[in-house]
Amino acid sequence: MMDQAESLRKLVSQKKKIKRSRVITITGGKGGIGKTCISVNLSLGLKKLGYNVTIIDADLGFSNVEIELGVTSKYTLLDVLYNNKMITEVISEGPLGIKYISSGGDFNLINEGVDLSLFLNNIKILDYYSDFIIIDTGAGLNNVVSNFLKAADEVLLIVTPEPTSIMDAYTLIKYSLVGEDKKINVLINKVKNFNEYKKIYDRFETVVKNYLGVSLIDLGYLENDEKMMECIIEQNPIVLKYENSKTSKRILQIAAQIANQSPPIENKGLWGIFSRLINRGGFR
Ligand SMILES: Nc1ncnc2c1ncn2[C@@H]1O[C@H](COP(=O)(O)OP(=O)(O)O)[C@@H](O)[C@H]1O
Ligand SMILES: [Mg+2]
Repeated sequence: MMDQAESLRKLVSQKKKIKRSRVITITGGKGGIGKTCISVNLSLGLKKLGYNVTIIDADLGFSNVEIELGVTSKYTLLDVLYNNKMITEVISEGPLGIKYISSGGDFNLINEGVDLSLFLNNIKILDYYSDFIIIDTGAGLNNVVSNFLKAADEVLLIVTPEPTSIMDAYTLIKYSLVGEDKKINVLINKVKNFNEYKKIYDRFETVVKNYLGVSLIDLGYLENDEKMMECIIEQNPIVLKYENSKTSKRILQIAAQIANQSPPIENKGLWGIFSRLINRGGFR
């Protein structure tokens, strides 16, 4: 017979084994600033470092991830929710063996009568299979993006030197990220050089700190690089096509920096995010 202490110990060690992935939600108010490009290349970068990576396309307007990765998917997460698909049936495989899933819809508007616990169990399988899950959100400050951000633990905010991008990023923090205990990483994309990045980052950080009381994590910058554009046209991400380019090396450094961060204290993975999304939707 197992005594109580022993069974408790066993329970604790079982609990520890529950694997939760780190979920990084990629955002930035404006379109065309490199969210999808960075989602794809960062996912491949993390994979190159030896992590299992799943990328989720939560941009409902344009499935750019599919185009940039050169993958197609027949089903989406909504098919798991409504059409009895298993999560394994909606996963596609991309380059280097990274996994790809299309989110397919707004999880705040879930119909009554669906089996949410079954859905969340499917989501748990993704946590089990992935070390990192990268969510690519769409442009604009619509509800879908905003709800994903509110539910997120870790965010990667992309900002470019354009004043509209900086304004949008500020607005996005103000309305979707303030007052929540989140890690907000910032990456300045499409800069001319270090000096331009430094000027923009320092100003942005100061304003966000002073007016919103929010601290940021500095992930540095990516230069404006013509090869990025070329790779998109060819559907061959830069970290694959120009492995040794300056930009690819920077992307790998950023991936390593993210991987070296400690995970959120009570990391509940993708399961946690979808639980929050569904609850926020006021599901009755
Ligand atoms: N660092 C960069 N240098 C040059 N072009 C870039 C860079 N990052 C992204 N791009 C280009 O910007 C365009 C928009 O990128 P995309 O990732 O689709 O943006 P978003 O998802 O934010 O709308 C693409 O043509 C892409 O090649
Ligand atoms: Mg995009």
